[in-house]
Amino acid sequence: MVNLKIKRSLFALGLVSVPGIALATIIGSKHDLSTSNTPAVGGTEEVCVFCHTPHGSDTSAPAPLWNKVLPTAASFTTYDALGTATLDGQINLTEGGISLACLSCHDGTAAMDLVLNAPTVTQGVYRYDVNGANLSTGVTMASFAPAPVPVLEKDLRNDHPVGVQYAGGGLNWAPIQAGNNVIDSANDKQFVDPIWDNNRLWIGDVGTPNGVIGDEGLPLYKGATLGPMVECATCHNPHKTDNGSFLRRSNAASALCRACHLK
Ligand code: HEC
Ligand code: HEC
Ligand code: HEC
Ligand code: HEC
Repeated sequence: MVNLKIKRSLFALGLVSVPGIALATIIGSKHDLSTSNTPAVGGTEEVCVFCHTPHGSDTSAPAPLWNKVLPTAASFTTYDALGTATLDGQINLTEGGISLACLSCHDGTAAMDLVLNAPTVTQGVYRYDVNGANLSTGVTMASFAPAPVPVLEKDLRNDHPVGVQYAGGGLNWAPIQAGNNVIDSANDKQFVDPIWDNNRLWIGDVGTPNGVIGDEGLPLYKGATLGPMVECATCHNPHKTDNGSFLRRSNAASALCRACHLK
């Protein structure tokens, strides 16, 4: 651990290269909206604040210390609206929840500056409530360029299903957590079995690839009644850049797709 830390600081100083240790960080990525980055939303040198706040977060949000105004699930057209005969799992954007956190920027309408608690100011100065109403008195956040992100927008029919039950549904969280991992027998074995490890349910190897627990694993999210769910953050980690497109693992030879689908 000490060696790793020394190597990392030498690496940061540009003194050595460390093969196999990926320093995948959000800094400088497309999720770095600070003034130093391009394209910047600007208004602040902070990076995390566009998604997280240390105080005044939305406690009902599906992601920790969430600083964004969430869109409503009902404002999206989901994959099941296609009526595909082969789709088995139910789709519900609020049960697993996390996708709505991504969609609080990726719905094609949300302004990047719409945060609950803006940086470096006292709560209540530059501040919006959870419904997006501006609580500021006579002050706007005009220094934040508000341009919405053009992908994915409100119509999710042309996107891989999210907020969708894993393995066609019918799975209960507790037995899987208890180690009874054979889960897809009823469905003609279409999906890889999940693994309970490190307090989360994963598809694929967890371990410590790149020195980080679960770095290449794909987490499933707990639906309140629908069991394990596939969400945006199952395939993507919004802080991780070493695979491109914030993917949790490389999709070379479609390895990401085949982590779940037995094809
Ligand atoms: C673009 C949005 C976004 C930005 C910017 C962002 N995060 Fe996150 N963060 C998320 C989401 C979404 C989750 C929930 C992920 C999940 O549940 O799998 C999360 C989860 C976390 C977690 C808990 C889970 C974990 O991965 O350890 C920590 C800690 C965290 N973020 C810290 C940070 C810090 C520190 C920064 C700034 C350097 C930052 N985040 C910037 C979106 C963001
Ligand atoms: C604070 C707003 C914000 C949130 C929240 C957010 N994103 Fe993004 N995301 C952006 C912006 C801005 C871009 C860059 C868009 C562009 O280049 O046009 C981006 C780009 C991306 C890209 C493309 C990366 C690339 O290299 O081309 C992916 C993938 C992505 N986001 C996934 C996610 C996922 C998954 C979540 C939730 C875990 C999430 N984002 C949450 C703002 C956000
Ligand atoms: C089943 C896995 C999976 C899920 C779930 C998923 N994505 Fe992706 N996403 C990918 C892959 C793989 C790519 C890379 C595609 C490429 O390189 O062309 C990608 C690319 C993207 C991009 C870059 C633009 C593009 O179209 O290539 C954005 C933005 C994005 N995803 C956002 C999201 C958001 C937001 C969600 C949830 C609503 C989500 N993704 C759910 C696998 C997934
Ligand atoms: C985390 C697991 C996971 C990953 C990774 C994943 N999928 Fe899926 N995929 C699912 C689930 C669950 C469904 C919903 C299946 C159902 O309920 O019938 C699904 C649905 C689909 C469907 C639609 C099936 C239908 O009947 O309409 C296609 C096609 C598909 N995935 C292709 C892909 C491709 C291509 C990739 C890689 C880019 C990928 N998947 C990555 C879990 C995953």
